[in-house]
Parts: sequence; structure tokens; C-alpha cells
Amino acid sequence: MINPTLTEMATYPFVRLEEARRRLVAEGVEVIDFGKGDPNEPTDPMIRRALVDALPERAPYPLAQGLPELRQAASRWCATRFGIDVDPDIEIVPTYGSKEAIFSLAQVLDTAGRVVVFGEPAYPVYERGARFAGAEVQTLPLLRKNGFLPDLDAIPDGTALVWVNYPHNPTGAVAPLEFYERLAELAEERDFLVGSDEAYTELWFDSPPPSALQVGDRSRMIVFQTLSKRSSMTGYRSGFVAAPADVISALKAYRPTVGTAPQEFVQRASVVAWGDERHVEETRARYRAKRDVMIPAIEAKGWEIVASEATMYLWVIGPDPDALLERGILVSPGDFFGPSGAGYVRFALVPTLEECRRAAEML
Ligand SMILES: Cc1ncc(COP(=O)(O)O)c(C=O)c1O
Repeated sequence: MINPTLTEMATYPFVRLEEARRRLVAEGVEVIDFGKGDPNEPTDPMIRRALVDALPERAPYPLAQGLPELRQAASRWCATRFGIDVDPDIEIVPTYGSKEAIFSLAQVLDTAGRVVVFGEPAYPVYERGARFAGAEVQTLPLLRKNGFLPDLDAIPDGTALVWVNYPHNPTGAVAPLEFYERLAELAEERDFLVGSDEAYTELWFDSPPPSALQVGDRSRMIVFQTLSKRSSMTGYRSGFVAAPADVISALKAYRPTVGTAPQEFVQRASVVAWGDERHVEETRARYRAKRDVMIPAIEAKGWEIVASEATMYLWVIGPDPDALLERGILVSPGDFFGPSGAGYVRFALVPTLEECRRAAEML
């Protein structure tokens, strides 16, 4: 009765984490939750006000193509942040956060019976999207010795789509522009498309990471951006895809069937969010303060922090996640994200600074 692709899937790992957290809380243990990557940061008042001001007496169905103002705001942001011109009319479509669009990309492209490739450890949605689309899945291990970048020469024949995600969840690794250049060249030679999940490009602490949009020939690059982490707006559900016109046109044809256009009042708040960098700088400063508390505390335990240059994550070798949980510190075991994550744990720096200080003491 139920789609076997669904029944064959393991429980979404974070559901298991949430169950463990609830059990401990019921036992009266104070749990500081470094598990799920949902920012606990406040959304800037200016953005919240824009949402409220945009709330109409009647909200009609939003159109899949999105408001022109939002596409223009996204295009302006790509120009300021990455120095590239993306046509707001034909190369951008707003999305309901980025997850649904990442999930459905394999259905929009011709992937059935062909191969979808992604590195692991990984965010689980590339795999799930590929399986529901009837594609075959091929993972490439992301290893410390390669800077957590995949070996591009291992991309098999018959590949339709390659996913990359830098800055990377869960390792916090960043890819240099040369990596994207090489990937774009290979995509042309071997006839595949690239999905670049760039949810974390704005959470950096050293220098701003590049985008796949910056390659010389971006005719095979499909880039997913989101306000979730940059502007702490996970619950608003707002992002966009920037891609070649034929892909955007396919997305505009597919998306009305699924009904995932963001609400127009959310789109209006999103225009404000993409147009402001001050709140993003403040967000980075808050994460930096948490890193300054947690990094020394973790290192003092003799555990090694690797990659972790950007994102809200620390990728740590050594701790036993169950032992940490018994002390009230919840982290994600690295193998939640794939077999190459074994031996690591991921700290998501989502608790408040005060909670991070308490966790540092508990460590
Ligand atoms: C790597 C990665 N991509 C995409 C997303 C999706 O975020 P959203 O749907 O909120 O834009 C997340 C969320 O945690 C993520 O970690």
C-alpha cells in the first residue's frame, strides 16, 4: 500500500535524536541541544515587521514564479555578494526554503534510471530526492585527507546530477573556486548537471566562501540559496534557485503542481532580508562568540576539531555521543550523515551563548 521507497528508508535521524532528548528531559535531566541545525537566533525585528506589514486581508494563492520584487532582490544580492549578473526574470525562482527544491530537483531533471552522485557524510535530502525520482544513487566519501572534497574523477558514467554542498554540513569544510571550475568543466565533458546547495555560504568566520555561480561557464550549475541560516528564518520557508534559463523554466512548469511557492507576505519579508547585511554580520558575530566558548572547551578535552571553517557546525573527532548525552549535552553522531562520518560528532552551535558557556563548564 505504501511506496516502498518510503518504507525502506530509515527513520529521519533527527527524529531519533528528538526522542532521546525527550526521554532525558522527562527524567529531569537538563539537556543542552547541539543536535539539530535549527538556529535559535532571533529574526531581525525589521524582517518581522516587514512580514506583519505585508499581511493582507486576503492572501490569494502565491504564483510559482514569485514576486518580481523578490527575484530582483535575489539577483541584486548575487551581484553584490558574488559579483555576477543573474537575470531575475529567467534565471531565478523563489522556493519554499531550499529543502523541498533540493528534494524535487531529481524529479525535475531526467534522472530516472540514471545516477545521482553526492559526497557523504551528507545532508540526507539529496539521497531521498534521488530515490523517490527512481534514480540510482552513488556516494563519494568525503575524507579529511582531501579536505572533505569528493574525488571528481570517481564520478561514474551515466551520471545525470552531482550534488555538492559547501560550506559543508556536517563538516564545515569550504570548497575553493577552483573546485567549482573543475566540476563545471567535467559537467560539460561528461554531460551532467550540478546541484550546489549553498545554505551556509553566509555563516563564515574568516573570508566569505565562493559560490558555484562564480565559475566561468555556469550553464550546468543549479544553485540553491536560503534565508534559513543567513537570516535565522527557518520557519519562514524562503529561498531561491539560481540556474540556467531552461532549468528555471522547467522549475516554473513543475512547481505549480506541487504548490510550494512561499506565501507573498513571506516573500515581502524576504525582500527586506536579502537587502540587508547588517543583521547577517550580527548573526556571524553571535556564532563567532559561541565558537570562542566551545572550541577551547572541546580542545581542552583532548578532542580534535577538523574542517569547521564555516557553517554553524563543529566537526569533532573523539567524543562518545552517548556519554555526552548522559551529561546533558546532545550532539549528532557523525555516522548519522553517512558511513564516512563514523568516529566524528557534530556540534550545531544553536544553543544560546549562555547555554554554550554552561555546556563548556559541563565538559
Ligand atoms: C546542507 C543543507 N541544505 C539545505 C538545508 C535546507 O534548509 P531550508 O530548507 O531551511 O532552506 C539545510 C537545513 O538544515 C542544510 O543543512
